[in-house]
Amino acid sequence: MSSDHAGASGKRVLVLGGTSEIALAIVEALQRITPRDVALAGRDTAALGVCAEQLSSVGCDRVITTQLDALETGQHAAILADVAEQLGGIDIVILAVGALGERGGLPTDVPGAVNVLQTNLTGAGSLLMESARLLRERGAGKIVVLSSVAAERPRRANAVYGASKAGLDALAQGLGDELRDDGVGMLVVRPGFVHTRMTRGLDPAPLSTTPEAVADVVVAGLDSGADTVWAPSTLRWLMIIIKLLPRPIFRKMKQ
Ligand SMILES: NC(=O)c1ccc[n+]([C@@H]2O[C@H](COP(=O)([O-])OP(=O)(O)OC[C@H]3O[C@@H](n4cnc5c(N)ncnc54)[C@H](OP(=O)(O)O)[C@@H]3O)[C@@H](O)[C@H]2O)c1
Repeated sequence: MSSDHAGASGKRVLVLGGTSEIALAIVEALQRITPRDVALAGRDTAALGVCAEQLSSVGCDRVITTQLDALETGQHAAILADVAEQLGGIDIVILAVGALGERGGLPTDVPGAVNVLQTNLTGAGSLLMESARLLRERGAGKIVVLSSVAAERPRRANAVYGASKAGLDALAQGLGDELRDDGVGMLVVRPGFVHTRMTRGLDPAPLSTTPEAVADVVVAGLDSGADTVWAPSTLRWLMIIIKLLPRPIFRKMKQ
């Protein structure tokens, strides 16, 4: 293995949200560097089985699947401990659980919006904290958190999703600083619009990208030891400008 890939070298990979198209592209990119043992955790057993076959077909040494619902927070610790036992430890966690929910301004479906908040912040936050505890016990490992540029400045069109991602992003940043001296790396990933089933049917935003391109950014981020990456990376500079826009101008952006 090349030392260029030291940050992405961990063999045992756990994907939380195991059917995520972005997460699967990340695992495939990791697999191209060196063989991996993978655990896919998610809600849909049949879909997880298909994803496991896909990863086996690209050469992953071992792929296991396990049932996980982000909303069932009381079960997270036990599920993660079981996966760690089955894999003999966990080196890289990819936290991909996420739901986009209704688009537009004030939600017409408030319970649906609450579900988005619970999934993306409470559920994903619980998984993040339990992952952090596991890796800190070992004193090593990497956690990749799929946040979003929406976390940096939520727009009127995505207030609920943006709020949930802002909360998760903040939690990941704080825990990343807390864990750094314990040998655990936290990589916060802020993609823009990515062409996956989550965005199917929506008009692509400027600088839209693919799961494969996000995966390349993540692998580079793991290798460099970055705390935060944007995908595409030019979004980093665009977001600096967007965050500086005065509110009366920013609110004119309806989409
Ligand atoms: N696509 C984009 O433009 C974009 C941009 C920025 C950030 N992101 C973030 O990137 C991550 C991956 O998104 P993606 O584009 O790969 O979309 P995706 O394929 O729809 O992945 C979302 C994943 O979240 C899982 N999930 C949702 N609710 C869950 C729950 N209650 N319990 C367990 N798993 C649950 C889904 O599982 P099921 O198969 O059971 O539904 C799926 O595995 C998400 O966090 C998303 O917010 C995406």
